[in-house]
Amino acid sequence: MKGVGAFGGLVGVLAVVWVLPLVVDGSCFPAVFNFGDSQSDTGGIQASFPGYTPAEYSPYGETYFQSPQRRYSDGRLLVDFLAEGLGLPFLDPYLESVTSNFKHGANFATAGATVQDVKYLSPFFLNIQVLHFLSFRRGVMNMHNKEKWTWARSSTDVKSAQGFHAERLNRLPNPEYFEKALYTINIGGNDYTYGYTTGKTIEQVKEYLPDLAALIGDAVKRLHDEGGGRNFIIWDMEPQGCLPYMKTLIWHEDKERNEMDCLPRYNEAAQYLNNLLNSTLDGLREKYADSNIVLLSAYDMKMDIFKDPAKAGFKTVHKACCGIPNKWHYDLRVACGQTSVIENVTFASETCDDPNEYLVWDGVHNTEAGNRYQANKIFEGKYFYPAFPKLTEGCDLSPLT
Ligand SMILES: *[C@@H]1O[C@H](CO)[C@@H](O)[C@H](O)[C@H]1NC(C)=O
Ligand SMILES: *[C@@H]1O[C@H](CO)[C@@H](O)[C@H](O)[C@H]1NC(C)=O
Repeated sequence: MKGVGAFGGLVGVLAVVWVLPLVVDGSCFPAVFNFGDSQSDTGGIQASFPGYTPAEYSPYGETYFQSPQRRYSDGRLLVDFLAEGLGLPFLDPYLESVTSNFKHGANFATAGATVQDVKYLSPFFLNIQVLHFLSFRRGVMNMHNKEKWTWARSSTDVKSAQGFHAERLNRLPNPEYFEKALYTINIGGNDYTYGYTTGKTIEQVKEYLPDLAALIGDAVKRLHDEGGGRNFIIWDMEPQGCLPYMKTLIWHEDKERNEMDCLPRYNEAAQYLNNLLNSTLDGLREKYADSNIVLLSAYDMKMDIFKDPAKAGFKTVHKACCGIPNKWHYDLRVACGQTSVIENVTFASETCDDPNEYLVWDGVHNTEAGNRYQANKIFEGKYFYPAFPKLTEGCDLSPLT
């Protein structure tokens, strides 16, 4: 009781901190921090390199947003549905400096990102994203720490600086969110295409997959040790050999298809990484008893759709919705929404009549319908290893529409 007088000035501040968890929202995870590539980029690469991404142009975004929203889909991504289900707003890109609000998380994913530092499509490989996060976290902690907080601008206008500070804090996570947040990692596809497009065989690509699994494990370690993260979902590699972009690789060596019109050897290469990743995460789980480190089998989740498209509500799963009119409705050289001249012939991209009937949007990424279906499966918990009751039972998940 003695301290109350002495710390009277702090009482107001403390009261606010105490009340906050009650008024934030009903969510079990107050924030999401996401890392990855175009599967979950909500505008990061566009913010960094304006004009670089087709996702900046129509018909991207048309189904849900009615305009391009810098996402590689006709609508919401899995990470959007995840946020929605948790009762949180969509994640803003960490690299977006104008409109972002990071109260309930931030998105460090950028299209083209690889796990390895290979200078391929994007400079923001996984460890750079982790460094961005750690820098973000440091900045947020300093903003919450009155002693450390210094104003970068003129210190003469104290009142306006204080106003700025208060306004900033409204758009930044509370300190405890870093431990309570859900950390999601969905990356690796570009490490394969990097190999295949630089002339490596499947066997040569497989040679560096152990490094990939180890690097993803290192990212989890850093996010835990230095970032305070305790809840992780790590996506494994989807069955790439079933997707138009792999099936039409002009350089690809293996035309063999299985009964499902997929390329088995490319799928095996995905599973090869998945097994490595699974044991890497097993090791981390033993080390970090204080954490939930959960593998999401994107492979099984998507394979189940390819095995029985009708059951999942799709009419077309092998052809892209948006692309050029050929067998798989896809050509690497003509992006969705674009027109290109190839050997004196003009190819214009076309969009299917009803994207809701398609799993694949642009040959690489899911349609909004594909993402919604998979998000619902994630919430059912079927594809987690091990089970993740903290999410599937502990959260009051909103139904996705
Ligand atoms: C991961 O490995 C465990 C055995 O340690 C196995 O039961 C599980 O099915 C594997 N999960 C995936 C998605 O490969
Ligand atoms: C494309 O057109 C140019 C000019 O008419 C011609 O010189 C060239 O041979 C053509 N290329 C092909 C691949 O048809």
